[in-house]
Amino acid sequence: MMRIKLIIQVKKIGEQMAKVRFVGKGLNKVINIAVGTLILEGAEEQGVELVHGCRYGACQSCFVEVLEGLENIDSPNIKIFNGVKNVQTCISKIKKDGYIIIKVN
Ligand code: FES
Repeated sequence: MMRIKLIIQVKKIGEQMAKVRFVGKGLNKVINIAVGTLILEGAEEQGVELVHGCRYGACQSCFVEVLEGLENIDSPNIKIFNGVKNVQTCISKIKKDGYIIIKVN
């Protein structure tokens, strides 16, 4: 049976978006993610597959490095490894419009 995945993106008038660049592991892609959207879900909706597991903050497999724009992310769990700030994409939301650079691990 053939499965068809249909993704419809609707940008509401006046909706605030952050520009998010994903880099690392052969990835270099910029997408817009709406304020209030989980990073993992926003990425998936636009074809960016990120490593993840539980999707609720427990397994910690979804940590990514935030190289720029941490102030534009609302995250309940920010960890610093070797001076670089890391967040979990499954529980971190876009807080405001701006520019974010995320390095996938
Ligand atoms: S997917 Fe498990 S903590 Fe994010």
